[in-house]
Amino acid sequence: MTPSLNGSTALVTGATSGIGRAIAQVLAERGAHVVVSGRDAARGEQAVREIRAAGGKADFVQADLGSVAAARRLAREARQLTGGIDILVNNAGIYPFAGTVDTTEEVFDQVFDVNVKAPFFLTAELVPAMVDKGGGAIVNVSSLAADKAVVGATAYGSSKSGVNQLTRIWAAEYGPAGVRVNAVLPGVTETEGVQAALPDEDRSELVAMTPAGRVGLPSEVAEAVAYLVSDAASYVNGALLTVDGGASVR
Ligand SMILES: NC(=O)c1ccc[n+]([C@@H]2O[C@H](COP(=O)([O-])OP(=O)(O)OC[C@H]3O[C@@H](n4cnc5c(N)ncnc54)[C@H](OP(=O)(O)O)[C@@H]3O)[C@@H](O)[C@H]2O)c1
Repeated sequence: MTPSLNGSTALVTGATSGIGRAIAQVLAERGAHVVVSGRDAARGEQAVREIRAAGGKADFVQADLGSVAAARRLAREARQLTGGIDILVNNAGIYPFAGTVDTTEEVFDQVFDVNVKAPFFLTAELVPAMVDKGGGAIVNVSSLAADKAVVGATAYGSSKSGVNQLTRIWAAEYGPAGVRVNAVLPGVTETEGVQAALPDEDRSELVAMTPAGRVGLPSEVAEAVAYLVSDAASYVNGALLTVDGGASVR
């Protein structure tokens, strides 16, 4: 039987597109009241409409996670809308590919601001209430590029390595209070972002290195997240779950 998330509340960042949008849909299907967040209000409202049309509960909160102030504001607004957040999915991320020499300081800062600093301060805002309540679940969306030497993913790969380490440390820090913190590490997944960032020939090369012989679907990553935040994963804490068609074993 599929574990229910009835009565729980979730904040999913980067839920206006790709993997985050699929996560928001699945968590709402399972019964969570989902706060959909991103910068693009039109896509955010559309995601909310789709969830509501399917019988789910969702609201949109706009936030540009390039600043800590915005992350803190998002946490506050999400709390006000729902009465308290039980599940946080740190999914918003950017992956501008460039070699070390070609990466500007501005791009480096953007990657770390959105991929590391925003999850850090969102978690810092939301975890105390989870601790007080004696339970909660956080999932960080990391990447296959955190552990593999993907040339061109210098700033990105190192930011996601940071996300992996935050996952382990938070699991140890908050596990004793009943808050579980895990990560999913997707391989190449068919999203709007990847379609824009990765030329077809690069994608074919990556598929050739993937035992599954194809790219992943956002819904396949979302199912893994839904498992990790559910009671079915009650003894899973600090896990880094690859969802990559086996690419990491190559
Ligand atoms: N797709 C893959 O192959 C793949 C593989 C491994 C890991 N991942 C990770 O999975 C996550 C989602 O990737 P995706 O492929 O689904 O990306 P995507 O289609 O480009 O979507 C990215 C999401 O992040 C949001 N976002 C970006 N910058 C933001 C900012 N400054 N403030 C707030 N929200 C922001 C976007 O919202 P707005 O546009 O509305 O701002 C959008 O909802 C990322 O963390 C990525 O690193 C993806």
